[in-house]
Amino acid sequence: MSGMDLHQRFPALSDLRKQARRRLPPFVWEYLDSGTGSEATKGRNRAVLASIGFLPSILHGPQECDLSVDLLGKPCALPFGFAPIGMSGLVWPNAEARLAKCAAQEQIPYCLSTVASQSPEDLAPHLGENAWFQLYPPKDEGIRRDMLERARDAGFGTLILTVDVPVASRRERQTRSGLTQPPRLTPRLLAQVMRRPAWALGMAWHHRAEGGMPHMRTLDKYVSGPNNARSSTAHIGYLLRTSPNWNYVKWLRENWQGKLVIKGVMRPEDASRLQELGVDALWVSNHAGRQFDASPASIEMLPAIRKACALPLIFDSGAETGLDILRALALGADFVMLGRAPHFALAALGDQGLTHLCDILRKDLEANMGQLGLIKPTEIRKVEMRTLSLQPAANSLT
Ligand SMILES: Cc1cc2nc3c(=O)[nH]c(=O)nc-3n(C[C@H](O)[C@H](O)[C@H](O)COP(=O)(O)O)c2cc1C
Repeated sequence: MSGMDLHQRFPALSDLRKQARRRLPPFVWEYLDSGTGSEATKGRNRAVLASIGFLPSILHGPQECDLSVDLLGKPCALPFGFAPIGMSGLVWPNAEARLAKCAAQEQIPYCLSTVASQSPEDLAPHLGENAWFQLYPPKDEGIRRDMLERARDAGFGTLILTVDVPVASRRERQTRSGLTQPPRLTPRLLAQVMRRPAWALGMAWHHRAEGGMPHMRTLDKYVSGPNNARSSTAHIGYLLRTSPNWNYVKWLRENWQGKLVIKGVMRPEDASRLQELGVDALWVSNHAGRQFDASPASIEMLPAIRKACALPLIFDSGAETGLDILRALALGADFVMLGRAPHFALAALGDQGLTHLCDILRKDLEANMGQLGLIKPTEIRKVEMRTLSLQPAANSLT
């Protein structure tokens, strides 16, 4: 389909999301889309973003936008990138490589999860300048050192330590769908798969050597036993689900020479303490409302965290549009990451979906910056803001 046709058929992320839902087996959809508890935090993320308004500008004459920003010493062509998603490869075959290739082409960051279905080595040929590796902290120091080495050797220059998963969370919707961990094709799931032929054929082909289902390839090396990472969930949990502490961050700072970012920061006092430890940036996030259902919206915490430290701030959780990206920049973020959005795009249209999503966001940024008379996205910080009434956003995806 040509770019024009794509914009006609899928003008917004909400259209890609609808199409993704049609193409994914329900258990995969629930894995990607669900939050924890009653999903109040997930809803708050959207509602608060939608309440952030700006006074439009008039009579500023014609202007051309420049969407590029610098982050962690590197240029990015757009002010957003692709956040780490565990088992992206369950959402669409070869997802991690597709995401990495698109990010390299668009000159934006891609972050690979520790629990992705492809390893740092798998992705090495596809990485661009802005390749980030997200670490779920291994307990064992030998494994930790080895993982850092593998990430560095594969070409990942930035390490992201995720700290908002101190324990596993409950995702009730996901459980109801019948999804097991690791994913196993029970008769119930098989019945779901049979009704989604594009997904089923893609998985069967891409994972033909793994029994048709993806698994956490980075961990293969550390999991012993006949079926390694495919069946040893308890062991993977033991390996990775340690609750890191402040000393762990110190250790990482001393042992990782690249940029170090802490993901999942929501308290201003943590931000200033992390700055003292010498990290390079903070990632303000409530994990898309998947961990803790009494958390404030992640956008609500941005202003106080901005005040508490001078570090670059990355933001995520609930951003769906170019306007949302501007809202986060206005409240102190330097950059925005998107988790589910690129996965909706991939499931809807494959590789073409990813470039189309970037184009939708690019056009939406330009349209809204035009209304505000901005040339660079960060100029949004000078625009006068208004709190809009807390109505559900007309284009809300939730
Ligand atoms: C299905 C799913 C899996 C995720 N897996 C990880 C992960 O492995 N590591 C991590 O740091 N964050 C993970 N996250 C959180 C994302 O990196 C990101 O913080 C969040 O999705 C951003 O919100 P958004 O989806 O509204 O853009 C996951 C999120 C989703 C939806």
